[in-house]
Amino acid sequence: MIKPNMNYANLKDSYLFFRIAQKVKKYSELNPDKKILRLGIGDVSLPLAKTVISALKTGVNDQAEKFSFHGYMPECGAPFLRTTTIAEFYRKRGVNVADDEVFVSSGASDELGDILDLFDKENSALVIEPAYPAYVDANIIAGRKIIHLSSSIENGFTPEPDEDHIADIIYICSPNNPTGAVFTREKLKKWVDFANKHGSIILFDAAYEAFIEDENIPHSIFEIDGANTCAIEICSLSKTAGFTGTRLGYTVIPKALVRNGMSFNSMWVRNRTTKTNGVSYIIQKGGAAVFTDQGQKEIKENIAYYKENAKILMRVLDECKIKYTGGVNAPYIWLKCPNGLGSWDFFDLLLDKIQVVGTPGEGFGRCGEGFFRFSTFGSHEDTNEAAEKIKNLFETI
Ligand code: MLT
Repeated sequence: MIKPNMNYANLKDSYLFFRIAQKVKKYSELNPDKKILRLGIGDVSLPLAKTVISALKTGVNDQAEKFSFHGYMPECGAPFLRTTTIAEFYRKRGVNVADDEVFVSSGASDELGDILDLFDKENSALVIEPAYPAYVDANIIAGRKIIHLSSSIENGFTPEPDEDHIADIIYICSPNNPTGAVFTREKLKKWVDFANKHGSIILFDAAYEAFIEDENIPHSIFEIDGANTCAIEICSLSKTAGFTGTRLGYTVIPKALVRNGMSFNSMWVRNRTTKTNGVSYIIQKGGAAVFTDQGQKEIKENIAYYKENAKILMRVLDECKIKYTGGVNAPYIWLKCPNGLGSWDFFDLLLDKIQVVGTPGEGFGRCGEGFFRFSTFGSHEDTNEAAEKIKNLFETI
């Protein structure tokens, strides 16, 4: 008889954002006249940049003509995006990445799950919590041992490595989802040295790097000496350029990343050539436009729009004397629930009383209990309205 993957029985009933969506759907059905203000999942609200749209249209037109039509794409990425664009983008920033160390992906969340194919089931995974819940869930599905390392306000949600928490795979997300905290160069160097010492591999989630304002904060783990022997970097155009529904990302795997005589770069080539036929030509055309001067200008305008939302929310939290992190180098604001409320109780309160949806901190790990996350990816109108309502509510509780 077929045996299902019984590890699924070890997962929570539903994935965090699915659970929230279900709760909101139920509330809307019962209260159809109420407008919901969504500050929950980090989904963008602005359309794609004009330059990207125009490149996507060119891609569609190319597919309409025999001479410019593309069939299967190179599995690791079209050269016009992989090498002349993304690898070059790193090099312009002073990070030495070779063309064939870049892999075009269909998005960071897909890639964060798929990349686990490179690791043995017996490998342990260290997750610095609170954390993007897919890190834990993907490793539960694979049956891996998970080592939870709690972070806190005291260490700025960027803990240092310690010898009591040694693991094979180490997840680091900076700027962090959900806390908005960023790892300094010095802290990242400690993690890189720790990983090299123990033979671990860091999965560096850089999905939010475009939001970094502070010049001293690294955008890439490969800015740190020694990272090319212990790290894989996973990037996304979702939040950088509004590709949440369009799907495109990229991953860097250095050729120097070798364990037991096995090259992770070569293994990933083998994996991609087996499991994919490449990302759609049209989408890669759109992606390449992001890296042009005009594309960069336009996506920065969109990011500035979201940063305005962060300022609106931070102003209200300051006025209400609520402690928070994030909002400056990241599109998330992580706050302490008022009056010692639990994070799901606070979620229910916000939904019931003012129809504002956020994300309960407990969904990002046990140490997230008592915290709450606001996303800044909504419209100015909704964010202003939500901020006003949050302020009024906080004054009554
Ligand atoms: C989030 O809200 O944490 C993210 O949008 C989820 C994701 O990127 O998949």
